[in-house]
Amino acid sequence: MSSGFEATFGRPPDAVASAPGRVNLLGEHTDYNDGCVLPIALAQRTTVSVGRAEGAEFTLLSEGFAKPLRFLPGQLPDEPFGRYVFGCIREVERRGHAVAPLDIHVSSDLPMGVGLSSSAALEVATLRALRTLGHLALDDVEIAQMAQRAEIDYAGVRCGIMDQMASSLADTEHALFLDARSLATRLWSLPKGTAVLVIDSGVPRSLVSSAFNERRRECEEACERLGVASLRDVRRVAAVESLAEPWRRRARHVVSENARVLRAVSGHDGELLGRLMNESHASLRDDFEVSTSELDRLVSLLQEQPAVLGAKLTGAGFGGACVALCEADRIGEVASEVLGDYRRLGGRGRLLAPPDLLA
Ligand code: GLA
Repeated sequence: MSSGFEATFGRPPDAVASAPGRVNLLGEHTDYNDGCVLPIALAQRTTVSVGRAEGAEFTLLSEGFAKPLRFLPGQLPDEPFGRYVFGCIREVERRGHAVAPLDIHVSSDLPMGVGLSSSAALEVATLRALRTLGHLALDDVEIAQMAQRAEIDYAGVRCGIMDQMASSLADTEHALFLDARSLATRLWSLPKGTAVLVIDSGVPRSLVSSAFNERRRECEEACERLGVASLRDVRRVAAVESLAEPWRRRARHVVSENARVLRAVSGHDGELLGRLMNESHASLRDDFEVSTSELDRLVSLLQEQPAVLGAKLTGAGFGGACVALCEADRIGEVASEVLGDYRRLGGRGRLLAPPDLLA
């Protein structure tokens, strides 16, 4: 996968690394409230190839770019894509390792801006490439923490750590149960006979960073009003009912969502996980208010299918993709019926997983 680097820079790279996107099955907007999440890695990945540069600047080229982006050491690029890479370089430097100018090539089959953590995949792949290049002693949890810092400090999204932990530690065969407070992880097998279907609503996510930061602030304000360090510490949903709006609904989503994740991983019951995913979507729509009419329509079409155990939006919301838990042997049929119905209603959806249906 280093051919893009070679074709661009005329020599092989010094280090190549890749990292996957993720889809989250359950636990939305719980990570930055110290709660629990259940993502799984996707087959789609981002690959970053790096080589020591001759000159004094960094040169970054992605397959999607018409021209390379250049920046001097310590100079924050204007272009948002470049900021993620710059942030990763800064994180490595913050840990005391100098990073000399590099030629960097990025290629990816992970769609951007649909809620499947393309930014985390870029950050984790960049940090992995820098780790290999500099022989740095960084473990996968440290890589995730550095990736999250890069996103918060240089891309301006006060994200939690789910996406970076999933990209750094998850695989495509198991879900990754993560406690975002302790960073303890456990691989969790999907219920027997089930598989994950991911469909993009075709509506790009809009205003994600500002709306995301606003939700995060509302959660912090709810904590102040409840006198707790984080919403994770609220055990009973009833405890939030006395709050005024919007804090009541925001906190109710987080507290109930965290409980749903803990219930789901207490066994391996597909019917139960599906039901909890449906409840999660309703809570994201009504209490956290991060859904859109297209996401609601797509989720309803999925939920109407007898072979679908449950469905919800995935990631931050405000557009992007939906995830469904399906009976594995009927997933192809479900995908084509739902996409057909969605198109008839005017939507432009596209299938993103499972990979064997993408051919
Ligand atoms: C984005 C953030 C994550 C998480 C999800 C919502 O993907 O980057 O940290 O908060 O939204 O679950």
